[in-house]
Amino acid sequence: MTNFAARQEFNFINNKKMKNRIVLAPLTHNMSADNGDLSKHEVDWLAQCAHGGFGMLITAATSVSPCGRSWQGQPGLFSDAQQAQFQIIAENAKKSNTLAIVQLHHGGIRTEQQYSKNKPVAPTKVAKNKNTPAGAEGLNEGKIKALIGNFVSSAERAYHAGMAGVEIHAAFNFLLSNFSNPLLNKRTDQWGGSFENRSRMLFTIVTQIRKNLPRDFIIGVRLSPENYSHFKGIDIDEQIKLTNELGKLNIDYIHMSLHDAFKKPNHVASSSQSLLEWIKARLTPNIPLIVAGKISNITDADKAIALGADFVAIGTAAVGNPDWVNKVNAGETLIAAPYSTTHLENIGFTTACIDYLRSISGLVAA
Ligand SMILES: Cc1cc2nc3c(=O)[nH]c(=O)nc-3n(C[C@H](O)[C@H](O)[C@H](O)COP(=O)(O)O)c2cc1C
Repeated sequence: MTNFAARQEFNFINNKKMKNRIVLAPLTHNMSADNGDLSKHEVDWLAQCAHGGFGMLITAATSVSPCGRSWQGQPGLFSDAQQAQFQIIAENAKKSNTLAIVQLHHGGIRTEQQYSKNKPVAPTKVAKNKNTPAGAEGLNEGKIKALIGNFVSSAERAYHAGMAGVEIHAAFNFLLSNFSNPLLNKRTDQWGGSFENRSRMLFTIVTQIRKNLPRDFIIGVRLSPENYSHFKGIDIDEQIKLTNELGKLNIDYIHMSLHDAFKKPNHVASSSQSLLEWIKARLTPNIPLIVAGKISNITDADKAIALGADFVAIGTAAVGNPDWVNKVNAGETLIAAPYSTTHLENIGFTTACIDYLRSISGLVAA
């Protein structure tokens, strides 16, 4: 089959069907209000991506409470008004037969106090330092349980809004990644110490969502299994173990954000395998795998599927091509990043969004 990734269906074990293997990666955009209410611009942008052929769309990292917000203009899903806005996203996606997933997020140590009702928080107190200028408050057990409740109740709101599922953000040094990380989690109670204890918060969230909602509601988890930048302490072998344990809790997919799916694993630079192959070889076979990282065109997408991914998530290339799948299937040329401001305006991005995109290297033309 030509364009396999853009044409081949996938059946989830819970009976949900995906019309192809192409996922819109979660893309933060600075288009929501200060209180997390969604704007028409972002709702329309997601509808455009659904209409443009993506089999699944994952929304931008979405706050599970007014606390833990990491960006200006970050969407939230913790109020009735926001639930109603997600209902429109869900309805639009259904019209295009696209699975709409909301990415549930709490910033943890990467909470930005100027956009959030609280200071950065972490499993244990972090003193102010170069990389964490505000430091972070250690969480007590009551707050941990309340945060678990926030994730679960946002998932319930997603379900009642008609979304196909949720993706729990446990990557990029945000809250749930902080709990996994022994350099940040020095707790000596049931939420720290052993691998099981450091994973307990994520496991509890997944278990409670699964218990409270019907089985056909998709639960995915996003991980970034390698260290990057100044964020250290994530162990790739442990991230594989974490994934395989999440498989036992019946997650519907694992989403590995790899920076570059085809590069060598950082810790075995001499490996004959790409990072994607290395990971796939170690996962329990029945866990559907989404990979993201420098997958721009259909050749890359088909290659990633051939190397073991079940789905590919398109980030940078989707920013300028909300109709990525339709273009690929029509044999049309994709518009390459960096995108002109005019092009980004024409496809519906606001000035605030374009300013944010400009802060990320390689997205917006000078
Ligand atoms: C503008 C922009 C916003 C992003 N926002 C999020 C986000 O909200 N949540 C997340 O998990 N990853 C986010 N990412 C990471 C992407 O989902 C993706 O993993 C990354 O861009 C690698 O894919 P690519 O090489 O196709 O761009 C963002 C990336 C970009 C470029």
